[in-house]
Amino acid sequence: MPETNNQQVRLASRPSGWVTPDNFEFTVEPVGEPAQGQVLVRNLLMSVDPYMRGRMNDVRSYVPPFRLGEVLQASVVGQVVASEYDGYAEGDYVTGMLGWENYSICDGRQLRKLTPGSEPLSWHLGILGMPGMTAYVGLMKIAEAKPGETVFVSAASGAVGSVVGQLAKLHGCRVVGSAGSDEKVALLKQEFGYDAGLNYKKSESLVRDIKSLCPKGIDVGFENVGGDIFEAVLWSMRDFGRIALCGMISNYNDAEPQPGPRGMMLIVGRRLTIRGFIVRDHPAECQEYVTKAAAWVKEGKLRYHETVAEGLENAPKAFIDMLKGGNVGKQIVKLADA
Ligand SMILES: NC(=O)c1ccc[n+]([C@@H]2O[C@H](COP(=O)([O-])OP(=O)(O)OC[C@H]3O[C@@H](n4cnc5c(N)ncnc54)[C@H](OP(=O)(O)O)[C@@H]3O)[C@@H](O)[C@H]2O)c1
Repeated sequence: MPETNNQQVRLASRPSGWVTPDNFEFTVEPVGEPAQGQVLVRNLLMSVDPYMRGRMNDVRSYVPPFRLGEVLQASVVGQVVASEYDGYAEGDYVTGMLGWENYSICDGRQLRKLTPGSEPLSWHLGILGMPGMTAYVGLMKIAEAKPGETVFVSAASGAVGSVVGQLAKLHGCRVVGSAGSDEKVALLKQEFGYDAGLNYKKSESLVRDIKSLCPKGIDVGFENVGGDIFEAVLWSMRDFGRIALCGMISNYNDAEPQPGPRGMMLIVGRRLTIRGFIVRDHPAECQEYVTKAAAWVKEGKLRYHETVAEGLENAPKAFIDMLKGGNVGKQIVKLADA
């Protein structure tokens, strides 16, 4: 039987600039009962992701904004407590877009059943979930990386970036990445297979440092950060290079949009292809990745790091810390034991 109380986190106010703890409100409601077609899930693990910052703004985007007062949404791994939907039974492990809360009731069609093997459940929110899929889609489909090419990745030690580097190495590329501390840069090389790394916070000239780490130039850029790093990458791109625009986290907490990168004429002169993408538009490649990644993980070819915050009460802090670079690999919030 579930506990009777369900703690929840709601959007209390929209941030102007940086997110603060005041933007969140905690509430408690009774745990409900599923109606016909619904499932009651006990949430075990929750993902906090950069895109959630965009959903806190009241602007039109590829995903609707969070509404004021509403329970925030997140990718969750949980366990079925009660089901009124054919195909799910008590005890099943599931994943889906549920709430920042201890229990969620949802339409059974929103869920995907997990058949966990020996891997920890949290991996379905990271290396076997959306961030891993994003790395694969961006590198292989959007940027069409080829063996022998040089790939540059920003936010390289994060959930997406740490997978991009490893996939690029498995594919026979040379990989260089940027990250925000010496410890993260060491990890890029020791754990994630990067050939070279750069602590962008210590760089006096990003253009010069990226050029020296990529002496033959960059064939493929995997852009997670935007701003100065994106601008500096442009100066090292080879003719006919490709950049997968995955995200621009350096801008997400700006109260006003910033001017674009300088050097845009380089895109013309070097005949670059720069393409934005959203992972969920590529379901076939996502499925292809999950199958391959499950095997690579078993064979020890893919390594994985995560940073775990304990308890729903720490979810807002985990989210803010992740936006500020407090995480290595995937930022997870553990809500309950399985
Ligand atoms: N297009 C899609 O479908 C899709 C899907 C998933 C994610 N994304 C995007 O992919 C990017 C990475 O997401 P993730 O989930 O893997 O997050 P993550 O990299 O695990 O965490 C965010 C990281 O961004 C870095 N960062 C924050 N502010 C920065 C700044 N001003 N300059 C440079 N780096 C900064 C921090 O690392 P440092 O310590 O290195 O600064 C932080 O750890 C984000 O831009 C996200 O929006 C896109």
